[in-house]
Amino acid sequence: MGRKKIGLIGAGNIGGELANLIVAKQLGDVVLYDIPAKENYAKGKALDLEQATAQNGSDIKITGTSNWEDVAGADVLIITAGIPRKPGQSRDDLVMTNLPIIRDVADRAKRYCPQAFSIIVSNPLDAMVYEFKRRTGANREKVAGMAGVLDSSRLALFLARELNVSVKDLRAMVLGGHGDDMVPVLSYTTVNGVPVRQLLAAEKLAAIVERTRGGGGELVKLMGTSAFYAPAASAVCMAEAFLLDQKRLLPCAAYLDGEYGYKDLYMGVPVIIGGGGVEKIIAIELDAEERAMLVKSAASVQKVIDVVKSQAGD
Ligand code: APR
Repeated sequence: MGRKKIGLIGAGNIGGELANLIVAKQLGDVVLYDIPAKENYAKGKALDLEQATAQNGSDIKITGTSNWEDVAGADVLIITAGIPRKPGQSRDDLVMTNLPIIRDVADRAKRYCPQAFSIIVSNPLDAMVYEFKRRTGANREKVAGMAGVLDSSRLALFLARELNVSVKDLRAMVLGGHGDDMVPVLSYTTVNGVPVRQLLAAEKLAAIVERTRGGGGELVKLMGTSAFYAPAASAVCMAEAFLLDQKRLLPCAAYLDGEYGYKDLYMGVPVIIGGGGVEKIIAIELDAEERAMLVKSAASVQKVIDVVKSQAGD
């Protein structure tokens, strides 16, 4: 029996760290794809990572390529193809740049990897994952966006540091679009079951919510490009849930067909990820303030999806 095959589309900052984590966890063989202009870069990164396996004891194979035939038949695709933010840019500013890229990737994914579970990371996330699903015609179970796991990790870390407790005990949930009006859901955020609202004053929580919303931007400002370690760890968490049929409840961008009152929209909601992909969307009750924030966030997402829909290219 062969190992699972994981296609990483985009061999940049996130792509490289994805490969590194997948090798460390021995989740499957990795194909690191980038455009022809970056073929040698992808090959070099793959070789460098493969040489590290002599130290970490993994037998995982890593192939660098600019030929989609090498990606063919992948069980999982993690797509980071696209341009990252620069200081001062919002994720939505990337829509016209990354739209032709996601369309190119979708067309090839449809041709070469029709069975894959695809995890989209490229920004603006909700619009890119929407377009990927629309363009490939894949079932909604097979296409998810990585945002909520990352945003929840940021919320969890900030809370753990403020409370001086282990981040292991934080259960944080961020829903809605992957934008500045994302929805940190404090009513479901606990320290092993103890609601954080019982542990921290409202103004401290409000400051942490704001830092979470701007968590990506904070890093763009510091580094001049966008984050890659935590985004990669978050996407690998989703891939692992699928590959190992873990049935994890994770906040992910999922295609809504009536859930939460929305149709034909991708947005962050709690889902179960297992061997079937997005096996279930979980409906949770939100308080009035959280519901209002979700409505606002959905409206922002819809605006960017409408931009995508208005661009011919079929
Ligand atoms: N097919 C495959 N790869 C592509 C394509 C394409 N059509 N177009 C561009 N790429 C590659 C680039 O050549 C580059 O190597 O995608 C890679 C992106 O890598 P980085 O520039 O390092 O960006 P990264 O930090 O990895 O972020 C990628 O994820 O979080 C989002 O906002 C971020 O949209 C950005 C994406």
